[in-house]
Amino acid sequence: MSASDLGWFTHDRFGLFIHWGLYSLAARHEWVMSRERIPVEEYEKYADVFEPDLYDPREWAAQAKDAGMRYVVITTKHHEGFALWDSKLTDYTVVRRTPWGRDLIRSFVDAVREAGLKVGFYHSLLDWHHPDFTIDGFHPRRDDPDAREQNAHRDMARYRAYLHGQVRELLTGYGRIDYLFYDFSYAGDDHHAVWGPKGADDWGSEELLRLTRELQPGIIVNDRLNIPGDFVTPEQYQPAKPMERDGERVPWEACQTLNGSWGYDRDNHDDKSVELLVRMLVDGVSKDGNLLLNVGPTGRGAFDPRAEAALAGIGEWMRLHSRSIYGAGASTFAPPSDVRYTQRGDRLYVHVFAWPFGHLHLPGLAGKVRYAQLLHDASEIRRREIDPRLEAYTVGLGGMPPGTLTLELPVQRPDVAVPVIELFLEDDAAAREDGGLPRAPLPARP
Ligand code: GLC
Repeated sequence: MSASDLGWFTHDRFGLFIHWGLYSLAARHEWVMSRERIPVEEYEKYADVFEPDLYDPREWAAQAKDAGMRYVVITTKHHEGFALWDSKLTDYTVVRRTPWGRDLIRSFVDAVREAGLKVGFYHSLLDWHHPDFTIDGFHPRRDDPDAREQNAHRDMARYRAYLHGQVRELLTGYGRIDYLFYDFSYAGDDHHAVWGPKGADDWGSEELLRLTRELQPGIIVNDRLNIPGDFVTPEQYQPAKPMERDGERVPWEACQTLNGSWGYDRDNHDDKSVELLVRMLVDGVSKDGNLLLNVGPTGRGAFDPRAEAALAGIGEWMRLHSRSIYGAGASTFAPPSDVRYTQRGDRLYVHVFAWPFGHLHLPGLAGKVRYAQLLHDASEIRRREIDPRLEAYTVGLGGMPPGTLTLELPVQRPDVAVPVIELFLEDDAAAREDGGLPRAPLPARP
């Protein structure tokens, strides 16, 4: 797709997404301005009271790191148009327009870097505040009787210059930026059938992507500019298999919420359990993908207790199991149902989503494993290959299809979010179609 080095990205696998803006004060979804058709002048009241006195980006970075995340991506501007940095191109910024009066992105970047994590920006291509951004089917003014006439006074060329100018500020003023998530295009795609579609021509995508790479050589960019980027971005669903474009596998990252909303959503308690979140992470890696998991901080700048508990729970699992995540990806072996495999060199990680009684039968692995252990406590798991000709009888398992490896499991499911068995593959079994991977070094502790 491009020349960017995705090495760190496909190795690290797990990042934190942060959606923070004036909508955090409304606390009823980041699309509140559009959903409730709130006029600009009325929406601006949130800027008048935005005072995030609990904001401590070091604390955010620490929580991300403890969860095992390796990069953090923050909304510099969402569709509402409000800038969390000291933009010189508008007054609608945290610095000029709020009682807080300080650049939030500067301290964020510093804290994330200091924690040794990679820094990413999310930047909205849409802007419901800017007077030149034309009204379309997503815009808060879409139901105004004169919506289409209002567009006569709006000029996307001027907006484009503003968009590019703000990106220039962000990519020149804050040191090295590793990652950019542009959001989003709705031209010619069936998923977003809406009047007034917008895409590459509206954003000046080719030029914007060129500018992005020129200002930040080495940056990786997502695929939502309506032209190809470095990785693709499934949202709020788990792909059923490794993702492809034109028949070729592509790097991908699923972005997921804790409760269905990206911005802080006070009354939405549809939280995913820690176990489900870990399964989503594992499921993605088993299909060669990343997980960008979102937290929507409150208007005071804190993670709410449910988000904190989720991150801590994932961190507890990652402390014991990150070996099956970092540097790992899809395996060529096919797992049985309710199991996900990830592989790193000669290690095959068996993630058991539903703990069976007594035995786990793994097709195609007979003779290919030299050792097996539970990952969380390095306790041995005994292995058997049962003669396919044997018939099941009173107290004896019957034969399995040729090539099946049978693992003997304890009755008690290990008390971790997702139990993992680490298989040490024989050297020839570890060789993959791509020419074979070297024996896996243990990844550095997070
Ligand atoms: C979207 C939504 C949005 C969210 C984003 C995250 O397309 O517009 O609110 O920020 O996806 O991926």
